[in-house]
Amino acid sequence: MKARYTALIDSNRGVIRGATVLDLASHDGRFSFAALEAEAEHVVGVEYEVGLAEKAVQNLQHYGVEPHRYDFVVGDLFAYLDRPKPCDVVFSFGILYHTTEHMRLLSRIAELLPRHLIIDTNVSRRESSVIELRNPLTGYPPKLGGELEAYPTTAALDAMLSSFGWSYTYFNWEASGLTSHSEMQDYSAGRRVSVVVDCMKPSISIAEQQAAVEAVRSRRHDHRSQWPTIKDVAAEYAITPPMLRTLLRRADRVEQEPHPEGPLDTG
Ligand SMILES: C[S@@+](CC[C@H](N)C(=O)[O-])C[C@H]1O[C@@H](n2cnc3c(N)ncnc32)[C@H](O)[C@@H]1O
Repeated sequence: MKARYTALIDSNRGVIRGATVLDLASHDGRFSFAALEAEAEHVVGVEYEVGLAEKAVQNLQHYGVEPHRYDFVVGDLFAYLDRPKPCDVVFSFGILYHTTEHMRLLSRIAELLPRHLIIDTNVSRRESSVIELRNPLTGYPPKLGGELEAYPTTAALDAMLSSFGWSYTYFNWEASGLTSHSEMQDYSAGRRVSVVVDCMKPSISIAEQQAAVEAVRSRRHDHRSQWPTIKDVAAEYAITPPMLRTLLRRADRVEQEPHPEGPLDTG
């Protein structure tokens, strides 16, 4: 935990300081607390195990953190992401491989327009950009009829993150000197990675983003699917289709309920 704290929180103090943070799968509040200690302004933790969410509140109370600086929401993270509060930084620690819906999760995060997303996840060591289905208890191959989790390879993670137009940096566990303990072998063997994603670098100006959104809305498309139009317009504006879909959903949301951040900042 101390090594993970160093890699995920201490090395990212500049990103976390003053930020509103969404801690997905917040467990007992361990990283929410660490973020607040690293001077995050506010943290929302989302955790579907009631006992863990309660423990998180107890932990923060125990350490004397002012209650107005945190909220712990009990529930499924996808349900939360349907009606999220805006935030600057998203933590996805120990959760990406638990879902089989990586792109759905990343799309929901993209719509929040965070500045940064920090990911800590198990990965598959297979070749190329594939997602390995596993059973949480028995691993690979997954037991038929059993529960599934899904480990992306780093190449698959690269493909998914870059499809949103995001840039990212992997934490260098090998060079960090933090992997000497046997518990850290997953990181030293490349079975687990930590990534800081910069989500705020759209390659086009705000005016172009708005024009691209309007272009999709104004073009006639089959009422069953907007996706072919999104792909055509994305190609014209030299952005990725997932990024344009994010801009559209974002614009729809802003029109329904005004958002303090306004359009994407290209700064
Ligand atoms: C491996 S633990 C990671 C905890 C912590 N984030 C960390 O990195 O140490 C995964 C946590 O995610 C929670 N969880 C799993 N699926 C979830 C979901 N769909 N919605 C909310 N919480 C979930 C589990 O209850 C558990 O607390």
